[in-house]
Amino acid sequence: MEIGGTLIAGPATGPLKGDIVVPGDKSMSHRAVMLASLADGVTEIHGFLPGEDNISTARMFIDMGVKIEWLNDEKTSLRVFGVGLHGLKQPVNVLNAGNAGTCVRLMTGVLAGQSFSSTMSGDASLCKRPMKRVVDPVRKMGAIVEGREGGELLPIIITGGKLKAIHHVSEVASAQVKSCVLLAGLYADGVTTVNEPKPTRDHTERMLPLFGQPVEVADDGTISLFPTDKLTAPATNVVIPADPSSACFFAVAASLVEGSDVTLKSIGINDRRDGWRRVMIGMGAALTLENEDKVGEEPVADVRVTSGGLHGMFVHPDDVPDAIDEFPVLFAAAALADGEFVLEDAEELRVKESDRISAMANALSAAGADITEKPDGAVIRGLASLRGDADVDALGDHRIAMAMAVVAQRAEGEIRIHNAAAIATSFPNFVTLAQSIGMNVRWADEN
Ligand code: S3P
Repeated sequence: MEIGGTLIAGPATGPLKGDIVVPGDKSMSHRAVMLASLADGVTEIHGFLPGEDNISTARMFIDMGVKIEWLNDEKTSLRVFGVGLHGLKQPVNVLNAGNAGTCVRLMTGVLAGQSFSSTMSGDASLCKRPMKRVVDPVRKMGAIVEGREGGELLPIIITGGKLKAIHHVSEVASAQVKSCVLLAGLYADGVTTVNEPKPTRDHTERMLPLFGQPVEVADDGTISLFPTDKLTAPATNVVIPADPSSACFFAVAASLVEGSDVTLKSIGINDRRDGWRRVMIGMGAALTLENEDKVGEEPVADVRVTSGGLHGMFVHPDDVPDAIDEFPVLFAAAALADGEFVLEDAEELRVKESDRISAMANALSAAGADITEKPDGAVIRGLASLRGDADVDALGDHRIAMAMAVVAQRAEGEIRIHNAAAIATSFPNFVTLAQSIGMNVRWADEN
């Protein structure tokens, strides 16, 4: 978590207009570099997200002997010289995941299969986040994991090797847990299966077959991996679609600011990531899909958003995992919607890069919104206008910072968002793109 960095945001001085191409999907960028590193052969990846989180994942593989060539200065295209499932070298130093939960949780599965010990750590925020959910299953598979609080908190030391296949029933709906177990399953002696309480993003299951590794998903949702002891670099380049979690900030901003008309180009609309759109449509937002297409195994479309009367709603618990990263900015939409917005069954928000329920409740309240925190969600009573004129703390959480920059567009006075530098973990060019459609946002040191 990078502490520091103040954003000054809002109010918007006119309607937001234009087309936006947001960077590549964070979840898929992590998975692409992991599978490419573990494959036999060379994989070219395009549309990679050059955020700090994904660079941490690439760096881990470089530290274990994988050669990665960046093909452009922006670091959105790269060539990965895979070393095969058994070709990683023991790192000489601690593998540093920085702020990246997906990196550390998925890498727990990868490292569990290695015939060496390695240590992973991260920044102050990541060192507080629960690791038991991934440590338990890899221990069951035979890996030895030691660390702080009995291995439940980083740093952790993983001693891996040949693993036993397991049937894992996850207590939390978490794509990170599912993916950790599937990646460890690549090194297991039989078929590894995973059940999750609710379906979560399925990028790992979609991407593994591109690397020659079959995955089966049964009608009851059970995911089975039949290890072939080999991944093979795909014959074609891996292309990563634009990240819906980044696009959502501009969709909410366009909904909130009168007269706006913004098109988010070619973004991922995979059902397991599309909960934010279902929620916004449920709130009455004017969203339309244009140019539906496919990028690799992933459906994409342009999403056009025009401003429009948002109203509150009850978010169906089944939609929660599909919109899990978008709730900070959906709370921002709800703060200015007509009526009550109720979110339940979302306690996972409390163990993200920050406790996102309390972080948003504090920041929105400081800006004049009417929000009541609940143990597993929040109740937000929308107001016709927002006072703003506030100092708020993003707590080093990228999505809190961007959500507050969005809501500020409809505030009466500017909002100063402190500890916002972590935007660089997932969306390094957020401010530039926001300015390109007319959002009023700038870094405090760029007056
Ligand atoms: C992710 C899964 C989700 C999400 C995170 C990315 C992934 O976390 O919040 O930003 O890429 O697998 P959980 O698995 O903890 O729900």
